[in-house]
Amino acid sequence: MKLTNEEKTAAIETSLRVLSNYNQEKGSLIPTLQQIQNELGYVPSPAMEVVAEHFNVMKVDVYSIVTFYNQFRLTPPGKNQVKVCMGTACHMRGGNIIMDSWKRRLEIDCGETSEDREFSLDRVACVGCCTQAPVTLINDEIHAKVTPTRVEGLLYAYQLDKDKENKKAGEDN
Ligand code: FES
Repeated sequence: MKLTNEEKTAAIETSLRVLSNYNQEKGSLIPTLQQIQNELGYVPSPAMEVVAEHFNVMKVDVYSIVTFYNQFRLTPPGKNQVKVCMGTACHMRGGNIIMDSWKRRLEIDCGETSEDREFSLDRVACVGCCTQAPVTLINDEIHAKVTPTRVEGLLYAYQLDKDKENKKAGEDN
């Protein structure tokens, strides 16, 4: 995914600011990346370069860490953040099937953002409502007992809302 110039600048500025609180000990590398992720919502390539330089390691080493841990994203989160619960109860009740439905419908993999930046897809650990499994969060709103058909329905509802918004924007202009 191509970043805009503003995103690249934000990545570099945020990373430099975060790094100003850390020494160059390697043990600080992961906490640094976590803080960058918290602030930007992802760890983009320009941030990895700045971090690699600070800790005097190869960029590929930073990249390996970011891709190894599920908690890190490489792409900016979408306008709508879809998170599929993969805790034990949701997993037992077909969480993987629900994840596959979202992947297929959004045409992205887990951890990715759609080209139009409307949706990102992630997995989350138990969100605390196991009796409602399998659960999907969309922008932190919980959707219970999700089925592949419900995935279709949720996307259809989203499309209707978007059409309404576009129509309203057209009328306002
Ligand atoms: S495992 Fe999904 S809500 Fe608990």
